[in-house]
Amino acid sequence: MKKARCVLLTGAGVSAESGLQTFRDAGGLWEGYRPEEVATPEAFARDPEMVLRFYNERRRRVLEAQPNAAHRAIRELEKRYAVRVITQNVDDLHERAGSKDVLHLHGEILYARSSLDPRWRRNVGAEGIRLGDCCPRGGQLRPDVVWFGEPVPAMETAFREAAGAELFMVVGTSLHVYPAAQLVHAIPPHCRNWLVNPDPAAEVPEGFEHLCERASVAVPQLVERLLRE
Ligand code: OAD
Repeated sequence: MKKARCVLLTGAGVSAESGLQTFRDAGGLWEGYRPEEVATPEAFARDPEMVLRFYNERRRRVLEAQPNAAHRAIRELEKRYAVRVITQNVDDLHERAGSKDVLHLHGEILYARSSLDPRWRRNVGAEGIRLGDCCPRGGQLRPDVVWFGEPVPAMETAFREAAGAELFMVVGTSLHVYPAAQLVHAIPPHCRNWLVNPDPAAEVPEGFEHLCERASVAVPQLVERLLRE
């Protein structure tokens, strides 16, 4: 029998319980840094060393973190559903939990790419990127992440996936960043939808059931239910 298509949109909240900071919560990353100082092409042009340092530190934390119960439960869904994970996260915790089909809307922090040729990329691991690290054509390497003001090339695929969803879960995102947040408007009318967010004031898109709990609690419970259906 053909598996039903289950699409997830995840954000920083799914990795919060792995010890990785979210962006907009109290104590979040954007409280300590202004996005325009570290996460824009202009910031990189102005002070590349500082921007590389910021991402090298975040990369180190990602490498130290481990997937949590939410990442693992999402992997379990594959037993019964055709699962597509669309994540705004630049970490690799979905992959390390075993999810097979992960689309990174905002790039992958473990990779560097050339400022000259965006197709040239390599895994940089714990070593990080230094000023002067270049691709063979001489282009300075930069983190393979999407900065503010840059296009999100994976959006077209993400919209297509959302439009084909039969189940749709939004986990751990404030839905404040576009175009990612628009995905909730692309899902078809017959789709069953859940939002997992422990914030009682979280924005709940129309037609979504709000599971007001941490991801490590709500996602395994929901997945268990769906695997039994
Ligand atoms: P945000 O920091 O904006 O939102 C994180 C959401 O996770 C909040 O709504 C929290 O309530 C929720 N949350 C916190 N702890 C949680 C937990 N244990 N379980 C479930 N939810 C929890 O992060 P994102 O929505 O991912 O972009 O941010 C989107 C984008 O903004 C990021 O990809 C990044 C950032 O600027 C770029 O860098 C381009």
